[in-house]
Amino acid sequence: MTGFILAIDQGTTSSRAIVFDGSMKPVGSGQKEFTQHFPASGWVEHDPEEIWSTVVWAVKEALKNAGRSASDISAIGITNQRETVVIWDKATGEPIHNAIVWQDRRTAKLCEKLKAQGLEEKFSEKTGLLLDPYFSGTKIAWLLDEVKGAGERAEKGELLAGTIDSFLIWRLTGGKVHATDATNASRTLVYNIEKNEWDAELLDILRIPAALLPEVKDCADDYGFTEKSLFGAEIPIMGVAGDQQAATIGQACFEPGMMKSTYGTGCFALLNTGGDLCRSKNRLLTTIAYRLNGRTTYALEGSIFVAGAAVQWLRDGIKVIGKAEHSGELAAKADETQNVYLVPAFVGLGAPHWDAEARGAIFGLTRNTGPAEFARATLESVAFQTRDLLDAMKKDWKSGNGKTVLRVDGGMVASDWTMQRLADLLDAPVDRPTILETTALGAAWLAGSRAGVWPNAKKFAETWALDRRFEPQMDEGLRSTKLKGWRDAVRRTLSH
Ligand code: G3P
Repeated sequence: MTGFILAIDQGTTSSRAIVFDGSMKPVGSGQKEFTQHFPASGWVEHDPEEIWSTVVWAVKEALKNAGRSASDISAIGITNQRETVVIWDKATGEPIHNAIVWQDRRTAKLCEKLKAQGLEEKFSEKTGLLLDPYFSGTKIAWLLDEVKGAGERAEKGELLAGTIDSFLIWRLTGGKVHATDATNASRTLVYNIEKNEWDAELLDILRIPAALLPEVKDCADDYGFTEKSLFGAEIPIMGVAGDQQAATIGQACFEPGMMKSTYGTGCFALLNTGGDLCRSKNRLLTTIAYRLNGRTTYALEGSIFVAGAAVQWLRDGIKVIGKAEHSGELAAKADETQNVYLVPAFVGLGAPHWDAEARGAIFGLTRNTGPAEFARATLESVAFQTRDLLDAMKKDWKSGNGKTVLRVDGGMVASDWTMQRLADLLDAPVDRPTILETTALGAAWLAGSRAGVWPNAKKFAETWALDRRFEPQMDEGLRSTKLKGWRDAVRRTLSH
């Protein structure tokens, strides 16, 4: 055993692979973007074959850049964009349709119908989720109903379904293993998070045959071996977690009360609530943070659909910046006396509003408003949305000591201005770690600890190192004026 671990991070816009050495440092990586398909308004798809080929390419590239071969790798950890689903042919491995991506809103009507039947409480009680098109269950139901012959073939046991981790495991093992982990299962809307099993009643409501679904394993577990022909040697797959849960692990948020927030395409904040399956009364999600040695740790999650995507909009949509990393600099030049608010409801609003029909809006424009004010409003919108999540979390989870420290990661956290503004608007310290590859690191740790070549959770947590703490500095009066302005802007944006 060498201690080298390979993490595969299959995200919404790119597939990445990173080789970590025995001291848990990244030593080589590969990354490839892939095509986003938008076949209709609000629909988002990925081609599973492109996902697969970019993953294989990224793994080979990472090995090459690390100067390692497959036989040097002790184990693989997989982390993935969550909720996105694929259905494929059990015999040939061929997908029957493009993957339907987590951002896709095509099942909004089905969700409304289920709500009208009074079923939201039942789904919520069992899965910790809400009836929103975000989750996998209604997407699977759509595929079975809409793809010709799919429903019938599923009944006959000819098809398999899974989130991206599951599809990759199937392909990597040459069709030998159909499995997923508890965190990915907890995002499907058909997994009972208390009993830790697929829920027969919910499957029945959505008319999904149980045989379509993968076996659910611990996050650190034995998921089979990669086919030798792929990378030159068989490598055991020993860790799997959805990307936000992997980031929670990579940030070493192992204790109840610890919280992380990842700023990627969207923003996902997870608060570890330990063994306490805390049911939200404030429209947050209850989800599985991780399951290790058969023990489930739960989290409260706030999911915001647009964070980094709003910065992309500044760059590619209205073109006020040339590069994403310039957004902080530009925002710093904004006139503080202008009260411009952007509500980036480009694909509706997630937690705590869950308004699929809302669309983005900007308020407070004056004759003096220019690019800098747009940049500031965009970055502040991410901070305001995080604040809404934190407020909801504090109301839901009373066991905390009321003191919140937020560990952050993801592309946006490199900007000091943005992180300072986040701390100011949260009125809480924001901790940026030295290692920002927390998602891949979390997946690697699951695999490395399972393989016995990386330290246990306690020792791993001791290696977490602070780059910089941002303390709130904003005057309380200004903060409350801004929060009031934000809440007013959201109220005017909601569709109902
Ligand atoms: O729930 C969706 C989330 O897992 C997507 O994460 O980093 O691919 O935008 P990301």
